[in-house]
Amino acid sequence: MDIAIKDVEHRYQMKTPFERLAIYDINAVIKEERYVAVIGHTGSGKSTLLQHLNGLLMPTKGQIRLGDDVIEAGKKNKQLKALRKKVGIVFQFPEHQLFEETVLKDIAFGPVNFGMSQEQAEKKAWDMLNLVGLPEEVSGRSPFELSGGQMRRVAIAGVLAMEPEVLVLDEPTAGLDPRGRKEIMDMFYDLHKQKKLTTILVTHSMEDAAAYADELIVMHKGTVKAKGTPREIFSKRDEIAAFGLDLPETIKFQKRLEETLGITFKAPILTIEDAASEIKALFQEENAL
Ligand SMILES: Nc1ncnc2c1ncn2[C@@H]1O[C@H](COP(=O)(O)OP(=O)(O)OP(=O)(O)O)[C@@H](O)[C@H]1O
Ligand SMILES: [Mg+2]
Repeated sequence: MDIAIKDVEHRYQMKTPFERLAIYDINAVIKEERYVAVIGHTGSGKSTLLQHLNGLLMPTKGQIRLGDDVIEAGKKNKQLKALRKKVGIVFQFPEHQLFEETVLKDIAFGPVNFGMSQEQAEKKAWDMLNLVGLPEEVSGRSPFELSGGQMRRVAIAGVLAMEPEVLVLDEPTAGLDPRGRKEIMDMFYDLHKQKKLTTILVTHSMEDAAAYADELIVMHKGTVKAKGTPREIFSKRDEIAAFGLDLPETIKFQKRLEETLGITFKAPILTIEDAASEIKALFQEENAL
C-alpha cells in the first residue's frame, strides 16, 4: 500500500480563538515496503503529520491516499476502522497505554476488539510475545511489574498483533538506555525486512535516521523542507544546520578528518562501517604512493 500525502494542512481547534496552524502544504509519497524517517526540530509538526496516517487527526485541507482509501478534509471516512488496522502507530511512551491485568491480555486486546475469538487472539499474543523478544514467563504477569524496556515491548507487541501493513513509530526509543534503544531499533529493522512492513519513523537521532532509513523527510516549522536519501540530505550540511538539526556523529567525524587531513571524501559517511572502509581505503592509497 503506497501512501500519498497531498497539500495537507492541519489546524488545531479550528474556528476557535485557540486555532493554531500546525502543518501546511505537506506533499510526500511513501512507497510500499520503504523505511522512511521523518526528522525535524521539536514543534515542526512531525507527530501532527503522523496522526493523519490512520485518521486519528483529520486534515483541515488536502488529502491522504492510503492504497485505495482516501482521507480527505471535510469528508467523513467510512473506512476509518479498517484503516486503524492497516496502519499501526507506536507512540512515544506507548507503555502509558497499557491497562490489562496480564501481558497476554494486553497484547490480545486489539485483535479481540477487532472481532478475533479470545482463543485465536491469545495464540496471536503468544506469537507476538516471541516476536518482540519477551520471555514467555512474563505472559501471566501484570505489565506494570515489568521493566521500562519490557513494558515498551508489550505495547509494541499489541500494535503488531493487529498485523498492520504500515508501522508508524513516533520516537519509539525515547527514554530507553542506549542498549535498549539499539535492541528496539534493530527489532524494527528486522520486522521491516522480514515482514516487508512499510516503516515510518520519527526520530531525533540523526544516527538512526542515517543508519536505518531509505528516505528522509525533513520538516521545519510545519512544512516539508527537504526529501531524499540520507546520503542526499546529509550532504547538505548547511541546510541541515539551518533547520535546527544536528549531523550524524559519523559525518561530524568525517568533517573533522577532512579538516585535519586536508582531503574531501566523495560521499557522506553514514555508518561506523562506512567510516571504517573509507579509512581503510585512505591507508591503502597512502601505501600505494
Ligand atoms: N493538541 C494540540 N493543540 C494545539 N496545538 C498543538 C497540539 N499539538 C501540537 N500542537 C502544536 O502544533 C505544532 C506541531 O506540533 P507537533 O507535536 O506535531 O510537533 P513535533 O514535530 O512532533 O514536535 P516534537 O519533536 O517535540 O515531538 C507545535 O507548534 C505544537 O505546539
Ligand atoms: Mg512529536
